Amino acid sequence: MKRTKITGVGHAVPERVVTNADLEKLMDTSDEWITDRSGIKERHHVDESTSASDLAIDASAIALDSAGLNPDDVDLIIFCTISSDYFFPGGAVQVQEKMGMKNIGAFDLRAACSGFVYGLSVADQFIRTGAHETILLIGAEVQSVALEFDTEHRHMAVLFGDGAGAVILQSSENGDGVLSTHLHSDGKHLQDLWLPAPGSKYKPFMSKRLIDDGLHTPFMNGREVFKNAVTRFPEVINEALKHNNLSMDDVALVIPHQANLRISQAVAKRLGVGMDKIYSNIHKYGNTTAASIPIAMSEALEEGRFGPGDNIILAAFGAGFTWGSAAIRW
Ligand code: UT7
Repeated sequence: MKRTKITGVGHAVPERVVTNADLEKLMDTSDEWITDRSGIKERHHVDESTSASDLAIDASAIALDSAGLNPDDVDLIIFCTISSDYFFPGGAVQVQEKMGMKNIGAFDLRAACSGFVYGLSVADQFIRTGAHETILLIGAEVQSVALEFDTEHRHMAVLFGDGAGAVILQSSENGDGVLSTHLHSDGKHLQDLWLPAPGSKYKPFMSKRLIDDGLHTPFMNGREVFKNAVTRFPEVINEALKHNNLSMDDVALVIPHQANLRISQAVAKRLGVGMDKIYSNIHKYGNTTAASIPIAMSEALEEGRFGPGDNIILAAFGAGFTWGSAAIRW
């Protein structure tokens, strides 16, 4: 049976580390509050000259190298992001051009923190139908430029970081690879986590008035996000287990979107497992939106947390709300 296999993985984060102590100088917050509420100790932010496509290219080069492939071998690029360099076109075409790839298909996918799982699901269909042979799937975000680093916006400012992760997807006939993906949404929560402007809702779609009204920076109803996340994560992980006739005993590692350590701890509790089964690196990077799962997967692999033959589950939840899972036999 033809399945989609991850044959290369890479990640890249900007050099500049922003600690909780650095943020204490910009707003009324504390290392204690941030650590207690989120588990985050530091995050990486870009400098003036770096944008999402640069991070994406760095991560993609490592992923290609680890797969033993050249840019020429890729026949489709899917770039999952909500922070592309420009409003349009998306960042996938910048990756295609800057990496010297052929005139292959290249598009962006906007599903916020669920972006990578949504992208993996889309790529899986292309590989299994034979429409594409080698897909570069990227999650890359630069959220720091949209944040306001002041006390009014402190609940958002402390949570997010910049970074990128990328994987190479090819087919396998050995029984390994993506076993299933499950995607969900509930748009009634649109305003619980959103960046209202610019957009076609407004005439003109960008103006000083929108900035004066504070619509250019993301808004979050943190409690509502938290409440839904701790329900939806276990639900969609259990959906993956049930679909594949697996139990948590058969799973080496769950790699959730890195939203908040407290969310991951609540998910572990609801699944009846210890934190040794739920990967976390949020203390180093904060929430990197669509990049968090491929960065976590890349680091977990480097640390030997899973290997050939192991079952892993990716799970995501984010703006929309959207959520999803992917079960993978490595
Ligand atoms: O990918 C999905 C992305 N989002 C998430 O995963 C976020 C999910 N939500 C959360 O993680 C939590 O709701 C937060 C960490 C954002 C906030 O934690 P909370 O326990 O829900 O706090 P809260 O928003 O109810 O605020 C409690 C207090 C407030 O002060 P008062 O009104 O009790 O005096 C806030 O003003 O904490 C205050 N606060 C802060 N204090 C210091 C909010 N942000 C900060 C801050 N530093 N950065």
